[in-house]
Amino acid sequence: MSKLAHAQWSSKMAFILAATGSAVGLGNIWRFSYMVGDSGGAAFVLVYLACVALVGLPVLVAEWLIGRRGQENPINAMADLAKRGGHFPAWVLVGISGVLAAFLILSFYSVIGGWSLSYTLNTVLGTFDGQDADSVGEYFGALLGNPGILLMWHSAFMVLVIGIVARGVTKGLEGAVRTLMPALVVLLLILVGYGITTGHFGEAMAFMFQPDWSALSGDVVLAAMGQAFFTLSLGMGIMMAYGSYLGEEVNLLGTARTVIILDTVIALLAGLAIFPIVFANGLSPGEGPGLIFVTLPLAFGSMTGGTILGLMFFLLLTFAALTSAISLLEPVVEFVEERTPLSRLTATLASGVAVWVLGIAALMSFNVWDDFLILGLNVFDLLDTFTSKILLPLTGLGAIVFAAWCLDRQGVAQELELSGGTESLWVVVARYVAPLGVIAVFVNSLLG
Ligand code: TRP
Repeated sequence: MSKLAHAQWSSKMAFILAATGSAVGLGNIWRFSYMVGDSGGAAFVLVYLACVALVGLPVLVAEWLIGRRGQENPINAMADLAKRGGHFPAWVLVGISGVLAAFLILSFYSVIGGWSLSYTLNTVLGTFDGQDADSVGEYFGALLGNPGILLMWHSAFMVLVIGIVARGVTKGLEGAVRTLMPALVVLLLILVGYGITTGHFGEAMAFMFQPDWSALSGDVVLAAMGQAFFTLSLGMGIMMAYGSYLGEEVNLLGTARTVIILDTVIALLAGLAIFPIVFANGLSPGEGPGLIFVTLPLAFGSMTGGTILGLMFFLLLTFAALTSAISLLEPVVEFVEERTPLSRLTATLASGVAVWVLGIAALMSFNVWDDFLILGLNVFDLLDTFTSKILLPLTGLGAIVFAAWCLDRQGVAQELELSGGTESLWVVVARYVAPLGVIAVFVNSLLG
């Protein structure tokens, strides 16, 4: 009996760790803070929180449900479930657009992972010791302006990702997630503590939580929804794939809540760590993708033990980025492996190199290609915008509509351990609130 209980706990734990490893990454720290800064602060944060609760949670549960029922990779799972239920075969597009999204996201994700690696080294070298905002900003500007260096770090990051995926040691990372995730939280708390000593913490709190609703526009709402999908690793089928390894005993709603709370807490802590530094140094919150790289070194450069804390922080950030990047490459590799005669190793190399090449286009948009614009966006912004604002929400919409409308309602209720009022609540949210929410956000942003 105790043996059985232990076995179950351990598999559930492994699942939570894998899902958390995918969800918690650059999205929580790098992307969240720069999006908040870019989009006017609290109004964005509150809409983001609403999106996480009303859209993120049901979509996450829907992806796990579909994965657990399909017991296969996302594309086949969607195809089979659609066939079995007598639905449109076109549902398979949901799986395919997910693989495409993974490919595109990883290309620019790796560039930022490279920045994180480079900052790990430079903290140790003492590059930021005692520097002021101007010199840290100049350092970052010089990094962006140097395609050779960017390429080197982007390549280093991709080599790590490819190495891990090729060896199939993804599972071995669970133990590391279990210890390193709490360490990341502790370091963020230390940084929040540092933020309090700057005397600008109140301003940061107000910026993040006292909404100026006039900052709200259709595009801000779409950005907030995109961030909710991005940070929870939704709309790409990766959570579906994880769901396919899931035993019947795991409570999906409870597990989704755990993963979402952890992910959200880390993002909010990152914001509370970064914005006091922004205000204390007279920097602009709307700095863009460089925000954490021009603020955090200031904190580490001036606090006692800053070198070691900075080293630990950027190492942990790189690690969190790696566990997410692995979850981005894995579905692409699986796809190539299944559709071509390539072995796992060659499939991994081929997918990895393709991602790497696209990443080069992304990193050149910070220097040689900075005025090469498509639809007014450089390659980096285009990849980020197209995936988070279009592909992820559309795929997620497909998943929730399929789970809520095409799977049998009673079976789903049983599976989610819902009855009576809670079941009605699930149906209302999954059938109407979440899908109509996504559609409304799209329409609203199209209208300007
Ligand atoms: N969620 C990760 C982050 O916040 C990024 C990520 C990993 C992702 N897998 C994904 C985003 C799948 C979208 C879809 O950094």
